[in-house]
Amino acid sequence: MQNLAAQNLKTKVKVPLLNLENVVTHYGSINILKDVNLDVFPGEVVSLLGGNASGKTTTMKTILGLVKPTSGSIHFDGHRIDSLSTGEIIAMGLAPVPEARRLFPTMTVRENLLMGAYVHRHEKNNRTQEEFHKVLELFPPIRDRLEQVGGTLSGGEQQMVALGRALMARPKMILMDEPSMGLAPALVEKVYEIIREIAERGTTMFIVEQNANMALSVANRGYVLQNGEIVINDTAKNILQSERIRKAYLGEA
Ligand SMILES: Nc1ncnc2c1ncn2[C@@H]1O[C@H](COP(=O)(O)OP(=O)(O)OP(=O)(O)O)[C@@H](O)[C@H]1O
Ligand SMILES: [Mg+2]
Repeated sequence: MQNLAAQNLKTKVKVPLLNLENVVTHYGSINILKDVNLDVFPGEVVSLLGGNASGKTTTMKTILGLVKPTSGSIHFDGHRIDSLSTGEIIAMGLAPVPEARRLFPTMTVRENLLMGAYVHRHEKNNRTQEEFHKVLELFPPIRDRLEQVGGTLSGGEQQMVALGRALMARPKMILMDEPSMGLAPALVEKVYEIIREIAERGTTMFIVEQNANMALSVANRGYVLQNGEIVINDTAKNILQSERIRKAYLGEA
């Protein structure tokens, strides 16, 4: 295969870190995603917006190989990934922060965080300890709860551990599904403050959200899904400023 990174240097054309081309996904015979096209470039924060059942989680699952697309292609970091296993995809540097957090409920906060570094278990000069301390600096509320089991944390604390666990993998890109879900407004602000800080350190992020205002406040660009189709693809600024888009697609009165 042609080395996309080398080609990129020669032509100075930006190559997306993640690219979905004409992706179609079904559950059984039910068609959910219809020709989804999207790109996330290195260093970008991109948000995928849309109402309930529009196909946001399905898009995330398709990227992660949890559901196989019926047609179309997905490339990550120059490689085609749509026939790889979830484990192989995560090992390439994609770190998921799933919907409803999904911590290991009987493991402690420390163990949950260390699980994030599992992908690097065979590395020499393992940087796990260094990353662990960085994560704890970012999330003071969980620093005092390292021995508490995941299942007993509050929703906001669980979200922080889930994000921390993703960072422990030192990923090329973080994929988040509805980080604001089920959190009180003040906590949503807090979680997004942390997301903004991670973005400012240069981590590429793809954020699936119903909370358009919060997601767009950290994103460079946004896509809007409706019934499994991308209906809007624009800069975060334009989407935030368009009353028409907000009324038509983002459920505003
Ligand atoms: N395993 C499944 N089998 C059959 N249908 C499914 C399955 N998972 C999801 N669906 C359907 O696919 C559609 C899209 O679901 P999806 O979870 O992607 O929506 P979403 O945009 O993430 O919604 P929400 O904002 O509520 O999380 C829904 O109609 C849902 O019922
Ligand atoms: Mg969802």
